[in-house]
Amino acid sequence: MKPKYTLDNPETRVYVGDCREVLAGLPAKSVDLVFADPPFNWNVDYGAWDDARPRQDYIDFTHEWLDGCIRVLTDTGSLWVNIPDDTAAEIVIHLKSRKLHMVNWCIWHFRFGQNRTGNFIVSKVHTLYFAKDKEKRTWNPDTVLEPSDRAAIYGDKRTFEKDEYAGVRVPFDVWYGQNWGRVQGNNKERRENHQNQLPEVYLERVIRCSSNEGDLVLDPFLGSGTTCTVARALNRRSIGIEFNPKNAKSAFERIKAGAVRIGEPATTNTFFAERIPKARRKADS
Ligand SMILES: C[S@@+](CC[C@H](N)C(=O)[O-])C[C@H]1O[C@@H](n2cnc3c(N)ncnc32)[C@H](O)[C@@H]1O
Repeated sequence: MKPKYTLDNPETRVYVGDCREVLAGLPAKSVDLVFADPPFNWNVDYGAWDDARPRQDYIDFTHEWLDGCIRVLTDTGSLWVNIPDDTAAEIVIHLKSRKLHMVNWCIWHFRFGQNRTGNFIVSKVHTLYFAKDKEKRTWNPDTVLEPSDRAAIYGDKRTFEKDEYAGVRVPFDVWYGQNWGRVQGNNKERRENHQNQLPEVYLERVIRCSSNEGDLVLDPFLGSGTTCTVARALNRRSIGIEFNPKNAKSAFERIKAGAVRIGEPATTNTFFAERIPKARRKADS
């Protein structure tokens, strides 16, 4: 299968079709990082794609695309999946059965979930981080550091005297903060007519920590194009696969236009942010 849209420097390819078929046509062990944000089977209108399948059909589909991703992943590669409560366990069990290693089970926490009264309001999605080989995987923690609580909140000067990681830390496994919300309303990242667009900072963290410049990043469910847009901004080659031709076209336009937040701090410590000035005043006095 040929890509429908391409760009050079770095090479970017967008395929239109079912990711299972496109993945089957790619060389084995050729992709350094896979990020997947699949349809959740929540009856979302994705055009021709049926997002309300019988449960077993959806699980079979899930296993098929996961196996396609595993086949194309290099031995140093990582596979990340964005998935809500109802299918997280099935994905974890399947990836473990394929001998992938779970590196982290992260949570993406957002506010402004859909209001409800019958049970607790959903304010998270699981961000599952697996690798073919836990030790050999590409892992660049220094590219995703954030201010530590000691530095940002408590104004503890001793943290700046450390030889390593002075005033900073590798982020927690629960992800939230400024620019980490769902992309809605008048958010400057927002693309019209797209469902479930992820924030750029989310992909920035994943791509920076799990790949190097020049590596090949693949997203089997491209949607509005977030993964390829951020990959390009970070000088990674990328492949996006999208079933809906309209989404693919719009994603490509976004990829060409470029990312809008890269360069802004992606990892601000916003925990008790309002205390920062007070703590700093105290430390400085
Ligand atoms: C949850 S959205 C992805 C959103 C994306 N992460 C973003 O930030 O915009 C899922 C996308 O997968 C597409 N899709 C559904 N089934 C597909 C399949 N079998 N192959 C490729 N794309 C598919 C849908 O059309 C939809 O655009």
